[in-house]
Amino acid sequence: MSAVAVRAPGRVNLIGDHTDYNDGFVLPLAIDLECSVRGRVSDDGLVRLRSAQLPGDVELPADGSLEPRSVEGWGRYAAGVVRVLAERGRPPVGLQATVSSTVPAGSGLSSSAALEVGIALALCDAARWELPRRELARACQRAEQVATGVPSGIMDQLASVCGREGHALLVDCRSLDVEAVPLPDDLAVLVVHSGVERELAGTAYAERRAACEAVARRIGVPALRDATLEQVADDPRARHVVSENARVLDAAAALRRGDRAELGRLLGESHRSLREDYEVSTPELDALVEALEQAGALGARLTGAGFGGCVVALAAAASASDVLAEATARYRGATGREPTPFVCRAADGAGREEER
Ligand code: GLA
Repeated sequence: MSAVAVRAPGRVNLIGDHTDYNDGFVLPLAIDLECSVRGRVSDDGLVRLRSAQLPGDVELPADGSLEPRSVEGWGRYAAGVVRVLAERGRPPVGLQATVSSTVPAGSGLSSSAALEVGIALALCDAARWELPRRELARACQRAEQVATGVPSGIMDQLASVCGREGHALLVDCRSLDVEAVPLPDDLAVLVVHSGVERELAGTAYAERRAACEAVARRIGVPALRDATLEQVADDPRARHVVSENARVLDAAAALRRGDRAELGRLLGESHRSLREDYEVSTPELDALVEALEQAGALGARLTGAGFGGCVVALAAAASASDVLAEATARYRGATGREPTPFVCRAADGAGREEER
């Protein structure tokens, strides 16, 4: 039986949070932390997966007939992927594989998107069946929603599928157009985990999304993407979304012309807006942003859904390790929490291992 070996990266979002489900803009990059799925095609009509890190082997009918919510733990994501691909016409070919991931879970670096995209690609490969890239991302987004019950957007899965080495991705979440924007070699993307797992993220996320959709209905636009700042001036949630969309476009432009001061300023504005208008920050994330700014980062902000997890920062590559050392010491002193720093490199999107 033929071998299958694929990989799918996690992502960090440079700027543009809580904009994707409002048909807006985001600027993520796929990172060099990834989920690999290695195994072989099987002829028993079963998808059998084990994780190199997590307990609980998974055995699922390859035709997607098992209800994903009946599966506990990480296997629920696998069951979600098997189900949505079956619905889209994947032949029910079996797979026996080991899943192994270097993306830390619960951190805001999209470990679940990397898992979904990795399993989806492995299943496509096993059945010699293909989905166009955007459809693959959409299917994995749907799998995430099925598995978690959270109405999450398209950013994470699309970044994992479409990543490009050395580039950030300017994504229009309405058309799903992706434009790769080069990241200069002398600019470092720093990610620091606050040491606090995300909490309440699912419930609050659904509430925020519903609030945005209600404002769009009230002012009579298809999505907040179409609203002006004047239209939403009195609504802090919507104001965040509309102003954040503008910041994403400004940040992509600043990146293209190498305007670091402006990039840093936009990251800081984004964090303030997420903290004050969208209210998805925490005291720890605020302390970490402040520590990075004081340590000499160009700018810093919470990244992903918020409510814990990671902060992203930009720094001159030459001073990145000094900035991280000073910021983590300051943060430890201020909060007593243990931060975990990463220097991330922008990586290629998901694919077969042989195509690396
Ligand atoms: C999570 C979701 C994404 C996006 C971010 C916030 O990561 O999965 O779709 O909405 O939160 O920007």
